[in-house]
Amino acid sequence: MNAFRLLNIRAASSALRTSRQCKVIPVRAFHQSVPSLAAKVVSTRKLLPESQARLEAQDLDLVQWPEERSMPRDLLLKEIKGAEALICMLSDKIDKEILEAAGPQLKLVTTMSVGFDHIDLETARKNDITIGYTPGVLTDATADLTVLLTLAAARHMKQGIRAAETGEWTEFRPDWLCGYQFTNKTLGVVGMGRIGEAVARRLKAFGINRVLYWGRKEKPALKESLNAEFSTFDNLLAESDYVVTCCSLTPDTKDLFDYNAFSKMKKNAIFVNISRGAVVQQDDLIRALEDNLIAGAGLDVMTPEPLPLDNKLFKLKNCVILPHIGSATIETRETMGQMCVDNVLAALNNKPVPYALK
Ligand code: GLV
Repeated sequence: MNAFRLLNIRAASSALRTSRQCKVIPVRAFHQSVPSLAAKVVSTRKLLPESQARLEAQDLDLVQWPEERSMPRDLLLKEIKGAEALICMLSDKIDKEILEAAGPQLKLVTTMSVGFDHIDLETARKNDITIGYTPGVLTDATADLTVLLTLAAARHMKQGIRAAETGEWTEFRPDWLCGYQFTNKTLGVVGMGRIGEAVARRLKAFGINRVLYWGRKEKPALKESLNAEFSTFDNLLAESDYVVTCCSLTPDTKDLFDYNAFSKMKKNAIFVNISRGAVVQQDDLIRALEDNLIAGAGLDVMTPEPLPLDNKLFKLKNCVILPHIGSATIETRETMGQMCVDNVLAALNNKPVPYALK
């Protein structure tokens, strides 16, 4: 009996292949006994129901990890061999070793995320492997969650829920759990891409009257649409009441927020990170919160993920933490899954991959 089970969905014979039946077969027995001509596709996780059903309906040799955790790396290393396409998640490290273990037939790695910092792009390029991802479709879900985190951090949501649930709430107190509002405040957006813009638009509805942004380049259209001003990083830090990080992780943004950066921010500032944990020097953020350099933080991303339970960030009253769920709405995750399937089908049919990194 196998210690693990893979969900192997493969038409076991040409008759089965044409009738599009699926089989769940223990992996070893399967490898020993079922030859297949169908293209091998590996998926490190199951998708949401509709995209999963569509994937299963294809004539594929689909090897998928069915459990509620990532496919173990040693298994991925083994199963990727001979695959033509890989569907992965942001939590899978797709490095040189994995890409080379696949063999020269690997055409596509498609990640169910907009971020692709977990994939070795250089090796992919050298080996002519297309990288697929899911841009554009998670903007609203992630911007909504960013607003939630910003409000939660600004209004002591963590302490409030705890007080209500533990009996610490004994009476109305005029000065208790007073946070900050948005009216006539300044928002600083680090990385004004689709998500940054959607966050700014939403927070303007809460009363923000000035938007600063920092990134690779000025976007003149934002002056017109959002009255947003391109700023230096230091000016954004000094003038913003809310600093929201929406940039991708690159060598330029790695460790961007260190103690020095936090010390340039306002004492009443709220810092929110929904991009990648490594944009922040996490120990410096902890010190900045402990030293009251800033008023609070809201984090959907951190280092590592999941954050160990004994991490100091959890102990800080003024730090709200969510488990990297920016894009986690049913609608968005289904759409992301469908995009992965679209990418796989295009790659296997030698058509242009619709959602590919250029
Ligand atoms: C989420 O962080 C994503 O990259 O999709």
